[in-house]
Amino acid sequence: MKRRTLILGGVAGTLGLGALLRPRDRGRDHSAYFTELGTALDQAGQAKPTLVVDRQLLQANIETLMSHINGRFAYRVVAKSLPSLPLLETVMRASGSDRLMLFHQPFINQVAVRFPQADILLGKPMPAAAALNFYRQFPGGAFDPQRQLRWLLDTSQRVAQYAALANSLGQTMQVCIELDVGLHRGGVSNDEQLLAMLEQIQLSPHLQFCGLMGYEPHIVKMPVGDPIDYRDDAVALYRHYVDVARNYLGAAWPQDAVLNAGGSPTYQLYDKGEFPFNELAAGSCLVKPTDFDIPTLADHKAAAYIATPVLKTMDSLEIPGINLGGLQSAWDPNRARTFFTYGGYWKAKPESPQGLLNNGLYGRSTNQEMLNGSRSITLQPDDWVFLRPTQSEFVFLQFGDIAVYDNGGITDFWPVFTESPRYAPRAAAEVG
Ligand SMILES: Cc1ncc(COP(=O)(O)O)c(C=O)c1O
Repeated sequence: MKRRTLILGGVAGTLGLGALLRPRDRGRDHSAYFTELGTALDQAGQAKPTLVVDRQLLQANIETLMSHINGRFAYRVVAKSLPSLPLLETVMRASGSDRLMLFHQPFINQVAVRFPQADILLGKPMPAAAALNFYRQFPGGAFDPQRQLRWLLDTSQRVAQYAALANSLGQTMQVCIELDVGLHRGGVSNDEQLLAMLEQIQLSPHLQFCGLMGYEPHIVKMPVGDPIDYRDDAVALYRHYVDVARNYLGAAWPQDAVLNAGGSPTYQLYDKGEFPFNELAAGSCLVKPTDFDIPTLADHKAAAYIATPVLKTMDSLEIPGINLGGLQSAWDPNRARTFFTYGGYWKAKPESPQGLLNNGLYGRSTNQEMLNGSRSITLQPDDWVFLRPTQSEFVFLQFGDIAVYDNGGITDFWPVFTESPRYAPRAAAEVG
């Protein structure tokens, strides 16, 4: 073969390979669903980044959840993942559950006032000073912390601190013990620890043992192995600790012990079989952020989006300094256009229009975020872009009231939890 033929062949091959590797146009304008959602936001006068929850899809997710649990366990609503009182109320009504799991002291105070019937279990151990702040900020009312609030304790040291707090308050405090069933995020990890904590609780005049909590999301996150095997290991540990505690306490074992397990990623693994716990916790699966796009939640639907207005559009991509924008867009048709959105850099992924990309070269912005998209995307200034949160617990708190989308319209605005106490703290000496 002639040398020239070889070179030409090589160039053609490289071009062919380049054409094969070159990204295809993934851009597509809003589907009917997002077009209608945008129109609903316009009609409601919205013009800033907004967190939207689709009430119908939320309802469908609650029904899915309840159909799996199917009365075999009690359901506990994970409040941190649905951080809004009216959102929680909607879930509590539709699921028929008054059980809530809380993770943040100011939110416990808000829930205790708004839902005087609630049964609150802490999802993590709190500094005793945070517990004291709950009592200082609790204005009184029908909610009875001595019966309805279950603190979570993880070590002997914390039992001692809570025993001292309960003594100083002169109040009964219900306490649950955190188990390590394989997650290794703290909690009891051997019999001696459990027995020592139970003994301390028994000796305390004001602490009342009310149950166990063992969270096991790791079982669906292992890079190798079968989740069912990991589930069985976690369940065996849980069962063991229940036996140890029951044997130790004998008649003092509470008849209505709360034995909590599960979370969104794992709750469907308990559809069949006998398990040592009596309630399952879940929250995120009801709005399904992208972190929950996992096989065990295949039948849940995304029900929450960030909607934000487009501020500016350009039919090119330009990067300051050495302008590599032209090169980027020549290679990738999904970088042919540029959009700047109102706000950005949330824990979220662009969802609609399809095919929008962040630009690593240009960088991220919480003020005006650059997104690139193909020429198939006809976005104009003031149109809406929709993103899906990767998680709900922090993202939901960043937008003010949640816009509730229901059958084509924004029908409600739900305030989210706030950090500041709504009630003036009482002096420690006044509590009790
Ligand atoms: C103790 C505990 N239980 C349950 C959950 C499950 O919450 P979700 O259903 O929102 O994943 C969590 C989440 O962090 C947790 O920490």
